[in-house]
Amino acid sequence: MFEPVGSAEVTITIYLDGRAIPARAGESIAACLLRAGVTHFRTTPVSGARRLPYCMIGHCFDCLIEIDGIGSRQACLSQVENGMKLRTQDGSATIPGVDLQ
Ligand code: FES
Repeated sequence: MFEPVGSAEVTITIYLDGRAIPARAGESIAACLLRAGVTHFRTTPVSGARRLPYCMIGHCFDCLIEIDGIGSRQACLSQVENGMKLRTQDGSATIPGVDLQ
């Protein structure tokens, strides 16, 4: 059904909301977090509904997450990097130094 991309060995660690998650070099953040059982990557700005990756090819934007301090990044199109810090995105993204209100 699905073929792993990159190494099949868990060799690096990423962090989601401070939780250490083992990752495989070369895989997408979305694949790694789904395998780890993460229940949502973001909540919507209007209703607060929880969202998880849907398309895994960059079209639906349900995988938006904060990566190393930058919000609204697509987890399905971004590869894991050792020590990467992710944060669940609640509502709209924030950009340091920019007031989006
Ligand atoms: S899962 Fe659809 S854009 Fe990432």
